[in-house]
Formats: sequence, structure tokens, C-alpha cells
Amino acid sequence: MHQRKSEQALRRLVVRDNYIDFTSNDYLGFSRSHELYRNIDNYIKENQYFLNGATGSRLLTGHHSLNEEIENYLSEYYACEAALVFNSGFLANLGILASLPQRNDLVIYDEVSHASIRDGLSLCRAKSLKFKHNDLLDLKKVIRRAKQTSGEKIDCIYIVTESVFSMDGDSPDLMALTELSDDENCRLIIDEAHALGIFGSRGRGLIEDANLSAHIFARIVTFGKAMGCHGAAILGSKQLSDYLVNFARSFIYTTAPSPHSLCSILMAHKYLDSDSGSGARKKLMERIAYFKEIVAENSMENRFILSDSAIQSCVVPGNSNVINISESLIDQGYDVRPILAPTVASNSERLRFCLHSFNTEKEIKNALNILSERLIKI
Ligand SMILES: Cc1ncc(COP(=O)(O)O)c(C=O)c1O
Repeated sequence: MHQRKSEQALRRLVVRDNYIDFTSNDYLGFSRSHELYRNIDNYIKENQYFLNGATGSRLLTGHHSLNEEIENYLSEYYACEAALVFNSGFLANLGILASLPQRNDLVIYDEVSHASIRDGLSLCRAKSLKFKHNDLLDLKKVIRRAKQTSGEKIDCIYIVTESVFSMDGDSPDLMALTELSDDENCRLIIDEAHALGIFGSRGRGLIEDANLSAHIFARIVTFGKAMGCHGAAILGSKQLSDYLVNFARSFIYTTAPSPHSLCSILMAHKYLDSDSGSGARKKLMERIAYFKEIVAENSMENRFILSDSAIQSCVVPGNSNVINISESLIDQGYDVRPILAPTVASNSERLRFCLHSFNTEKEIKNALNILSERLIKI
């Protein structure tokens, strides 16, 4: 704690209502949609799902017909054999990574992968190695070196990465990644947390957008971000789903999601698939393009990590610099949070702008003008 304080990196909880939102993951405004709220409420009433809690874990009393209805719906929506719902994306990553790779397997993961991926790997029996962020040449080197040094000992190599990175907003070259994975006979696990709802036809993510689902062993989709509700699912084969039901401890040893949560997931997908959902997606894309235009107008492109997603990060090295700029923005009503070391590597501290379909052009322009003025003074 002392070290955190001295490095200005001490975390604390703050309530920040009524600010212009450039921070939440509510990219499409679903969490605040009255229409979606009413749809969820009506669905619960029409189907008489009058149960406040799930009452137990999925393997005991927490498995209802609603779970099956939602999982069947999700497997059709995402065109996969099976979908298994978890209480959150964190628990989904923990569940699959802690249980699936075995002692003689190897997991190779992007060095800036989300904490849930790294925590899952720290619990698993297999050895894991990092590759440089989005660097497929380095990934290939790591795979080849591991194969040479381990001889016949590796049963299976898993590659784990994200389709949109949460702190950088950038993406790997998914086409080249799947080719490499196929050539090297690896299994790909891809976290689509920040792509879901935003990219792909019907918002099904970047894997579907690139028509690569057949090459992916497991996709993790999370519902607390663009879907505006809560929970996550692992998409893959029926065999994978059966395996996780048996061995993923974050699935087994916890109370199942509440019926309300499940209805929210279902109705959020129906909403995403409606004109309201595609309208929100289109608006978000326009806002991302506008944001990048104003960044260029202010000659700030070099500061920003290249990204076409809703996450646009401006690197400002040094915790105190990034905190000061964030405070200037917050003072003027713009909620843009600083991302500090150790969440990101030191010297790559940043202001992370999360863009939304509901952000106006005026809000974007004003926030970027404040940023530009503050950057000149550093
Ligand atoms: C890439 C990534 N994966 C997983 C998660 C965890 O998802 P959830 O918030 O549903 O636990 C996050 C959330 O921050 C994330 O950014």
C-alpha cells in the first residue's frame, strides 16, 4: 500500500454520476436503454419467471429450463455447437484456462492479456509463455522454440489472445493468427469481450466478421460491456461445454446466474438484433470515425494507439501526468479515467477514452480540445 501511495497508484472507489461518459463499457447505451429495460420486464412477466435467485449451482438446483433456452439461443446466434453461460467474463476465462490445459500442454498468450486470462493460467497445470503484444512473428518464434526444446513432450499448444484489447483498443491480425495456429496445429482461444455487439453482422464479434469461427477452439463473449447487462458465455464444441460442466470450478462451485440475469442476456441479444441495435452500432461507428478525425485535426495521432474500436487510448507516460490531465477533463464534466501502472506497463500510462453511440460530436470535440491544450503543457 505504501508503495502504491508513493507511486500515485493507490486505487480507491469513487462515485461519479452525471458526468459525460467516456469511461464505461456501455458502448451501445444498452445499460441505460428504457426500451430494453421494458423488454426484459415484459419477458419476465409474460413467462412468469418470478424467481429472484437461481437457488443453487447449475449442477444442483440452479439449472432451469431458462438456462437451456438461453444457451440454445446463444449457440444459434453465434453459430456454434454449444454455449455455456458463466456469471462473468472473469469467471469464464478463469474457468476454461484453469481447467482445460493439462500438464503436458503449453499455453502461449499475448503479453498484455486481461488479468482474468493471466489469473486463469496461474491456476492451470500447463506451462505458459508470453508472446509480444500482437506480434505474430514473435508468437511463431515462441511456438517453434517450445517445440524444439520440448521434443515430443507437448500434447497440445493453446494460443490465447483478445480480439480487441481492453487497454489498447487494438486487435491482432486475426486472419494471419488463425493461419499460423492451423499451420502449427494449435488451438486458439479468443476473448471477444470488447468486440461483441460492435463488430460483425448482427454484432457477433470480429471472429464472425472475418468468417473464422471454424478455426477457433473457444470464443469468450461477455455481456457486461456492449450488451449492457451481466455474464458471459464460452462458445465452442459440445465436447468442450461438457468438459467445462465437469471441470471448470468457477462454473461448478458458484450459484448460477439469476433468472433475471438470464432474461436480460436473452433480451439484450434480441435488442442487438433489432433496428434499435443496428442503429446504435452504426452511430457508434460514426462516433469512432469522428473521434479519429478530431484527433488528426489536433495532430495528436502519434499519441494514440492505433485502434478502430470503441477504445481509444492516448499514451501519456508517468502516473502524475496522466492523473493531472484526467482531473482537468473531470473538472470540466468529462469522465475520462487515467490508466496507471501497474495496470499497464510503466511509461505507457494512458488516458483511455471509451466511446459510445450516445456521445455527441460536441462532447467528443470539447474533450479532445481540453486534452490537446493539456498535452502542449507537458
Ligand atoms: C478482455 C476482457 N476479458 C474479460 C473481462 C471480464 O469480463 P467481466 O467484466 O464480464 O467479468 C474483461 C473486463 O474487464 C475484459 O476486458
